[in-house]
Amino acid sequence: MAQVQPVLELTGVSVAYETPKGPVQAVNRVNLTVMPNEIVGLVGESGSGKSTMAYAIMRLLRGNAGVTEGAIRVLGEDIYGMDPKTLKKFRWNKMAMVFQSAMSALNPVLTVEMQIIDTLRVHKPEMSRAEAQRRAGDLLDLVRIERKRLRSYPHELSGGMRQRVVVAIAVALEPDLVIMDEPTTALDVVVQRSILDEIQAIQAQKQFSILFISHDFSLVSELASRVAIMYAGRIVEIARGDSLSLGRRHHPYTEGLLRAIPELTADDVVIEGIPGHPPDLVNLPSGCAFHPRCSAVMDICRTVRPEPIVAGETLMECHLFTKQEVSESGS
Ligand SMILES: Nc1ncnc2c1ncn2[C@@H]1O[C@H](COP(=O)(O)OP(=O)(O)OP(=O)(O)O)[C@@H](O)[C@H]1O
Ligand SMILES: [Mg+2]
Repeated sequence: MAQVQPVLELTGVSVAYETPKGPVQAVNRVNLTVMPNEIVGLVGESGSGKSTMAYAIMRLLRGNAGVTEGAIRVLGEDIYGMDPKTLKKFRWNKMAMVFQSAMSALNPVLTVEMQIIDTLRVHKPEMSRAEAQRRAGDLLDLVRIERKRLRSYPHELSGGMRQRVVVAIAVALEPDLVIMDEPTTALDVVVQRSILDEIQAIQAQKQFSILFISHDFSLVSELASRVAIMYAGRIVEIARGDSLSLGRRHHPYTEGLLRAIPELTADDVVIEGIPGHPPDLVNLPSGCAFHPRCSAVMDICRTVRPEPIVAGETLMECHLFTKQEVSESGS
């Protein structure tokens, strides 16, 4: 049987920001694969490197940031081996991104229709104006906004509507991969819910892969078939979404995050966080970067960095686990 090609493949990818204090290791030898039509979640505390990784995949790192090792492939093509012309065709046509600050991602002086038409025509120059206009209407239907809103300016729309427009623009050219960086964080819970339902419906209809970035664990585990957990620039675990409950064995950091989800009981709310703070990314702790905060720390954790153990579609980077244990829980 022919092997299915991943839509996204990161192998040993590191990204650093050059600063006067030294390089900030924002992404640290990351391995991650996203298959066709798969939704993969990426979670981790603020500053763990999620957005940096997203920008690296889009080859949109700027200024003092750069990929220092590893390879990023989208549909089998090396993103950093591409000439600028090929890259330009690749972006938005094959891979698109909903940015974290999506509220400001829209141009305030263009109507919704002009923004959508612009995106279509810039990235698919062969498309006629009439065709782009027709597609703009279809895209609003897709994200359930009335077509009369085509003539609205961003400031005339609610936050939820603006976010829907941003999603419409990301899927406009039917890319194979859409990276969504905290697409609903700024919105209230009810609006968040409805946009997530729409994202799921659009994904099912249009068939593309999503890398869904969030710090909201419960939300991600509901949406994604697999969830990558990032700590201090490293992916410490990749688990199946349906395995993410406290009854199952996980990386101590994952367990900490799971415990941090408020548990609603009859009369009180229990929130148990992870003590301590994420490390300084200029001076990472020796061994496992999580060891100073880990409740299960062993001697080896202070000196030896755990190697990632890959078992099928899951991954574990922790000395507590043997290869056999990981493959048993991953199969
Ligand atoms: N331009 C920069 N120069 C130096 N360090 C930076 C720069 N941008 C980001 N960083 C650092 O890189 C690390 C990763 O940042 P990043 O924005 O990728 O995290 P994140 O996981 O997306 O966080 P959040 O959940 O808050 O969005 C952080 O420690 C941050 O301080
Ligand atoms: Mg971010």
